[in-house]
Amino acid sequence: MVNEKEYTWKVSAAGRVNIIGEHVDYCGGKVFPAALSMRNTVYVRPNGTNTIRLRWTTLPDEVTLDLNALEKYRDIPYGNYQAGSALLWRNAGHKLVGCDMVQDCTVPFGSGLSSSAAIEVSTIAALATAAGEKIDPVEIALTAQKAEREYAGVNCGIMDQYASACGKKGHAMLLDCKTLSCEYVPVALGDCVFVIANCNKPHSLADSKYNERRAETDEALATLQQAADISCLADLTPQTFAQCGYLLSGKIYDRARHVVEECDRVRKAEQAMKSGDTALLGQLLNASHASLRDLYEVTGKELDALAAAAQSHPACLGSRMTGGGFGGCTISLVQKEGVKDFIAYVGKKYEASTYFSASFYDTDIADGIVVEKL
Ligand code: GLA
Repeated sequence: MVNEKEYTWKVSAAGRVNIIGEHVDYCGGKVFPAALSMRNTVYVRPNGTNTIRLRWTTLPDEVTLDLNALEKYRDIPYGNYQAGSALLWRNAGHKLVGCDMVQDCTVPFGSGLSSSAAIEVSTIAALATAAGEKIDPVEIALTAQKAEREYAGVNCGIMDQYASACGKKGHAMLLDCKTLSCEYVPVALGDCVFVIANCNKPHSLADSKYNERRAETDEALATLQQAADISCLADLTPQTFAQCGYLLSGKIYDRARHVVEECDRVRKAEQAMKSGDTALLGQLLNASHASLRDLYEVTGKELDALAAAAQSHPACLGSRMTGGGFGGCTISLVQKEGVKDFIAYVGKKYEASTYFSASFYDTDIADGIVVEKL
């Protein structure tokens, strides 16, 4: 428990779920995530020193970060994301003030729901608030992404940090990752809801495989640019890809095909969401999972089993993995009246086929950064 009276501000940023548009953000595509009420909350007060003193509600550890030596914390198990965020924020020209922070994270780690983005974004927002700065969510998102790339070593796209910082209650975000323009689309699912389930398989290989997929899409782009006037893979439609795809072969072809078709599914999902066509949205979720499994190869046995179990329930209109993959969560579109039965059925079926037990989360679509004076 945190005694709020001992702190000056409470600053939080959201975890996120991606509805559709997976592994396309770093290819200039549009993504369709939503910020969650599962979040990282930072209680902060200036401490008049040249250090950040860090504690957590869920860990016994205490870590002191020397503001003059922020480079040296890359390999510590807890506090490295905070150190990287502080360093990159200062490198972007901002003042850091020494402070005490207690962090309370309700986004499960390694779940594909962006706990790391929530930590980075909320830490920067807390540092900015402690220094008396006005919050600019987009600038914070871009700096947090830099921290993930340059400090944590994951060459990620902008989706997670943007959703974590700029999310809006009740809305999904149609984010164009090429231009950073964002349209907020009300999540209106009629008699359906989204159910998020964690396969609880730790995804330790994720980071290296993630960077490998990025390299493969870069290779595909460089080859296709010999024939097509494009600046990113997302510039291609399935029709234009059909004309130049012959230049690629094997896995590189598959990776590019996934990106092109997933971008097309996002366009269709936008229409489905806006017109309340949940049947179509469900089909698109299923097709996205199949493509991530067969063409992009980022799912794995457990996520496949969890999505298949969900898809086989009569109240489920569609289900797919969400986030980077190799473990973590699925998102399923389920008829409200069937949710209870769905959870019981999927939990049982998944456990029988993998010996892992799934977790189901009760979470809402929420705002991104929230700053509260205590
Ligand atoms: C991770 C990355 C994002 C995005 C997704 C896949 O969550 O941080 O930038 O690439 O994987 O869609």
